[in-house]
Parts: sequence; structure tokens; C-alpha cells
Amino acid sequence: MTESSDKKLAGKVAIITGGASGIGEATARLFAVHGARMIIIADMQDQLGQQVAASIGSHICTYMHCDVTDDDQVKALVQSSTENYGRLDIMFSNAGL
Ligand SMILES: NC(=O)c1ccc[n+]([C@@H]2O[C@H](COP(=O)([O-])OP(=O)(O)OC[C@H]3O[C@@H](n4cnc5c(N)ncnc54)[C@H](O)[C@@H]3O)[C@@H](O)[C@H]2O)c1
Repeated sequence: MTESSDKKLAGKVAIITGGASGIGEATARLFAVHGARMIIIADMQDQLGQQVAASIGSHICTYMHCDVTDDDQVKALVQSSTENYGRLDIMFSNAGL
């Protein structure tokens, strides 16, 4: 991979629902490799989600509790992410059955 292709998410802010494990966790790690500015892992597994975020690096990854079946929690997630980081570029709606 070239330097430029490594950083194709430079400056981007991303939410990944279901990011505490599986495909979502792998995506969070890949987004970090590609230079995302902030990755918000949104999940219901609080301890695991916090561990994953810390292992990626608290300067580029954070955890927020969110049950995607609850519209109000999803709205709060999007609102706090845009307020805290000024933008939202990617919403990976990965959590599901
Ligand atoms: N793994 C596969 O082969 C496969 C194939 C087709 C589709 N999918 C879909 O891809 C997605 C991820 O699959 P996976 O294998 O990584 O699953 P996984 O079970 O490993 O991870 C799912 C994550 O979503 C979280 N989650 C579950 N319900 C949630 C909710 N209501 N709100 C927030 N977070 C919630 C879980 O806590 C978990 O961390 C799922 O939607 C799944 O249906 C997976």
C-alpha cells in the first residue's frame, strides 16, 4: 500500500454501530489504519467496547453506549458525535441480527 492509500480516511469522523466485536471491531481497526480522525464505536457491550476503543487509541477512537433499536439513543449518538467532533462523514450501520 502506498502512503496516500494508507490515509484515505484522513480527517474523517466515523460512527460504527456494533463496533465492539466482529465485523464492526475489524472495521474500526481498519479505519484507524486508514487515518480516520475519530472513530466512535457504538454498541451495547460497554466493557468490551471501551477496551476495543482503548486498544485502538483514545486519541482516535472512543466508545458510546447505543442500542440501535432505540431511535432516541441513535439520535443522541449522532448529535453528540457531530457536536464533539464537528462533523460526521461515515455512518456504518453494522449492528443487526
Ligand atoms: N459474520 C457474518 O458472516 C455475517 C454475514 C452476513 C451479515 N452479517 C451481519 O453483519 C453484522 C455484524 O456481524 P458480526 O458477525 O460482526 O456480529 P457480532 O455478533 O460479532 O457483532 C455484532 C455487534 O453488534 C452489537 N449489537 C448487537 N445488537 C446491537 C444493538 N441493538 N445496538 C448496538 N449494538 C448491537 C453486539 O454487541 C456486537 O458487538 C450483523 O448485522 C450481521 O447480521 C454478518
